[in-house]
Order: sequence, then structure tokens, then C-alpha cells
Amino acid sequence: MSKKAWGGRFEEKPEDWVDAFNASIHFDKNLVDEDVQGSIAHATMLANQGILTQDEASTIISELKVIQQDIHDNKVPLQESLEDIHLNIEHELIQRIGAVGGKLHTGRSRNDQVATDMHLYTKKEVQNIITSIASFQQTILNLAEQHVDTIMPGYTHLQRAQPISFAHHVMTYFWMLERDKSRFTDALKRIDLSPLGAAALSGTTYPIDRHETQALLGFGGIYENSLDAVSDRDYIVETLHNISLTMVHLSRFAEEIIFWSSEEAKFVTLSDAFSTGSSIMPQKKNPDMAELIRGKVGRTTGHLMSMLMTLKGLPLAYNKDMQEDKEGLFDAVHTLKGSLKIFEGMLASMTVNTDRLATTVRQDFSNATELADYLVMKGIPFRDAHEIVGKLVLWSIQNNMYLLDVPLDVYQAQASEIEEDIYTFLQPDEAVKRRKSYGATGQDAVKHQIEVAKQYL
Ligand code: ARG
Repeated sequence: MSKKAWGGRFEEKPEDWVDAFNASIHFDKNLVDEDVQGSIAHATMLANQGILTQDEASTIISELKVIQQDIHDNKVPLQESLEDIHLNIEHELIQRIGAVGGKLHTGRSRNDQVATDMHLYTKKEVQNIITSIASFQQTILNLAEQHVDTIMPGYTHLQRAQPISFAHHVMTYFWMLERDKSRFTDALKRIDLSPLGAAALSGTTYPIDRHETQALLGFGGIYENSLDAVSDRDYIVETLHNISLTMVHLSRFAEEIIFWSSEEAKFVTLSDAFSTGSSIMPQKKNPDMAELIRGKVGRTTGHLMSMLMTLKGLPLAYNKDMQEDKEGLFDAVHTLKGSLKIFEGMLASMTVNTDRLATTVRQDFSNATELADYLVMKGIPFRDAHEIVGKLVLWSIQNNMYLLDVPLDVYQAQASEIEEDIYTFLQPDEAVKRRKSYGATGQDAVKHQIEVAKQYL
């Protein structure tokens, strides 16, 4: 067992199983790069401020870089008894360069160190997420461009409502993701702050320069209050929320794809590469990827709740509870990035069954609103028109027909204003074409929408 960095005031050592409970090394080894980056900035600043000599700082910095690579190459035995990545690296440094390694921690605490690492990590990953969302949006846009003229049933209450363009439907997800991207971007203002130099909680007596480390680490801002700097985990809560909401959006889209690929709908066919089979039923082709994405929103939301509960009632400043901020965030980031990548592949390789959609949309009453609008056009008040169409729908159901099959004399018996042109008027693609209002599903409006969307990418 290694000697504890804080061992001085202790007469006894914890047992291995106590060390194991206390340790975070098995997950915070994920922060190697951020930890070394933070330490290099700190050492550079210490030397520039005359707190370390330039020689001492160079020795520390060059060895830190070697240790970083060695950890990636699994050449450094990371130890639970050394708790976390910070103490493992410091221990290794002292082993390799001797007493001078012990000077790195001057004017710093693990409390501002871990906060710095987490800010660097969250910033990096949020930027990666923004890029992944943009790439997914591009895939949606490509799909939409191919299907402006593909007509499908639009639903409310999962009942056929009105015909819409397939492009219009999928573009909805483009805009949801656009809002997600803007939430992540906005959160960067609060993530991109330097806590380094706050030390344990109260700042330090050494003549450090926090603005220098802020600049060296590329942070856009700095915490004004040292206590706040080490106690704040809001940016993690916020990121977990943004991840959860994006996952909720992906799960809604996944659910639609699961329904669309069912035998009942057959609106789309998923590629074999993104489907799986059954161990017992040879005919099966299951949308497992979409189901997993739909399901994984449970874990990301769980991590959000967990972080909120961990922070509730925590007094200032650092408390060990805060070590619980890492696994959930790492897992949520991993889950979202994985889901975006899989979804993108699934969407790009999916076939939209345009013929099937065209047939489907003729076998329902989703053109009933059109008939009412037709009557309004002929001068009948909308409420009366609604009543007349309701009766015609009932007649059609009773006679096993759809509105396009109803004979002209039946129409005219209800409203003498109805003429032969009703059969063109009720065509689903005509219905879509007439929706020219801004943001509507009409082909021209959708083309405009797609042009606007391109400007966001
Ligand atoms: N492993 C710790 C964490 O993740 C590092 C900070 C420890 N600080 C302390 N005072 N014990 O939060």
C-alpha cells in the first residue's frame, strides 16, 4: 500500500476495503488528460510568479507529459490506496523526479484541481456533442430533401389527422435538435470558467495569478468567489439536463421509427445492418437500435436526478459527496454520443416506402378537413360544413368507403354546392400543396423551411 499524501496526522491506515470504497480512480482515470493539462498550467504559472524556479517547473512539466502517455499505455499501476487520478499522478511524479515533484501542489488543493478537470472535460465533451448533433441534423436534412413530395398521414392522438409531407415530419426533429444545440451552447458560458487557484476553499497566500492559468487553459471566464469555484456543480446538472432532454427527443423519434417499421405501418424499412433477429422466431427483424435509444433515456434522466439529489442540502464548500458527480456525467455523455451515432447510421440507411405511404394516406379520412374547407370555399359557414362532413364520414364508414369513393349524388344530397372537382380537391397531395402558410407542410413552404434550416448548420 502506498503512503498517503495526507498521512501525516494519522496513526492508523484504512484497510484495503475502506480504501476501495473511498477511491474514485476506477472512473476518474478518465480525466488523465485534463488533470495533466491543469497541472502544467499551474506549474507554468508558479514559475512565472517566482514561486517555483523555471527549472523546477520544466522538470515537473516534462515528466507530467511522460506520465500522461505512460498512463494511456497502461504502464503506470493506478492504485486504489492513492484514491484518485490526482494523487496517483502526483505520487508517480514524486517517484520519478523526487522531492521537486512535491512542489507541484503549492497553492493548490484537490478541490480546485478536480473542479478544473471537470470543467475542462465538460467543455470538451459538450463541444463534441454539439458537433455530433449538427452531423445528425445534416442526416435529417438530407432525408427531408429527398422526401418533400412524399405524402404520409399526419397524426394527432395517434389517429390519422391530415396528410403531410414526410420531409415536414422529419424536419420537426431537426428543430428540436437545433434547440438542444442552442441549450448546450448557452451552457458553455457557465461551463467555460476557471476554478483553478481557489485552492481548498479560501484562495491562497502564495502570489498566484489565476488569470494566467485561466488564459493558459483557454477558459473564457473565471470564478469570482473561491468558495463558489470549488462548490459549484450547477454546470454538471445543467449538462445532464441538456443530455436528458436531447435523449428524450431521440427517444420520441426512435418510437416513431419503431412504429413506422412495424408490419402494421410498413412506412419504412430499416437496413439489416441496424436490425437484429430473434433466437426463436426466424422471420423476425427487430428495430433493436431504436428501442435501445428509446430505453437509454432512463439512465440519462436517472443521472440527472441523482446529481440533483447529491447536491441537495450540501453545505459549502467541498464535500466528498461531490465525487459522485463523475460516473453519471461520464455515462450520460457516452450514452448520448453513442445514441446520436447509431441513430444517424440507422436513419441514413433506412428506406422510406413511398408507395406504401401513398396508398396508406388514401385509405383513411385524413382528407375530411379538405372537404370542410371546400364547403367553406362555397360559402358555407365552417361549423355547418363540419357537421355536413361528419355525416358524410359516417355514411362512408357505414358503406365501407372513403371520401374519394363517395358518389357525387350522395355528396350533392348533403350539399348541392359540391361538384365534380371535389375528387381532385380531396387528393392527399393536393391537400398538402394547398397548405402554403408560413411553416406549413405544403411542398413550397417545406422547401423554404429546408433552406432556412441549412443556414443553421
Ligand atoms: N476524488 C475527489 C473527487 O472526485 C477529488 C477531490 C478530493 N478532495 C478532497 N478534499 N478529499 O471529488
